[in-house]
Amino acid sequence: MSERVRSASTPEDVGGRQYHIAVKPGEVPRYVLLPGDPDRVPLIASFWDEFKELSKHREYVTYVGRYRGVSIAATSTGIGGPAAAIAIEELFRVGADTFIRVGTTGALKKEIKVGDLVISTGAVRYDGVTKIYVDEAYPAVANYEVVLALIAAAEELGVRYHVGLTASSDSFYVGQGRPGFKGYLPSRWADIHLKLSEVNVLNFEMEASTIFTLTNIYGGRGGAVCAAIANRITDEFVPGAGVTEAIKVANEAVKILSEWDEVKAIEGRKFLTPAIIAKRL
Ligand code: URA
Repeated sequence: MSERVRSASTPEDVGGRQYHIAVKPGEVPRYVLLPGDPDRVPLIASFWDEFKELSKHREYVTYVGRYRGVSIAATSTGIGGPAAAIAIEELFRVGADTFIRVGTTGALKKEIKVGDLVISTGAVRYDGVTKIYVDEAYPAVANYEVVLALIAAAEELGVRYHVGLTASSDSFYVGQGRPGFKGYLPSRWADIHLKLSEVNVLNFEMEASTIFTLTNIYGGRGGAVCAAIANRITDEFVPGAGVTEAIKVANEAVKILSEWDEVKAIEGRKFLTPAIIAKRL
């Protein structure tokens, strides 16, 4: 970003290049995968037919390319809602409208094995940033087309997956019921993982609620598939477990969504229906 930035309220350069993600309109397609970790972006792209690094600024790394003929991008969000909100804000401004988080998570149900995938249908908003955007009563709901595409991809790839509610926290430690430094753990959060498990919340992570809330506010589509690298009930932790599977499912979901979108466009239909799914090209 240079002296050509025009305004403090819309921090972009004269070509529309966004201040944080360093991407300008026309450079990314509508489908964008959103890992938190910048190092996961090249890993995601390694499954594409072709790719190039488009930008790298702070925690935001963006690659663009093609996956099985479909234009696709991946942008890292960094950790947590505030950083993810910046990425989503700026990606919408440059033309993206469909976002899939490809993340890692802590499972809250005994039956979710470490390495399994969790596809979110919605998220409990234990984040701070979405409360700035909209009333706390507003739901954080995944887009049903993205959810279905992720399920279809997981089925096609034959991986173990679960579907249901997620909880997103701004806090990895205390907010997820892990003791803070020197054991600090206010009673409100001490058993939060158990309380959420009781009401059938499947997993804890840190960005899904922000992605779902902002995509609903702005009329886009959001979804999330996360690899369970931890299970908070059985107290297991295997860093990296299931990450490759989550990446494969997210990439394949973009291919499936693009095919459904094509049929919708041809038939002039706004919503995905079972009939459109049956006509997938
Ligand atoms: N990410 C989280 O936010 N929590 C976990 O337990 C694992 C990954």
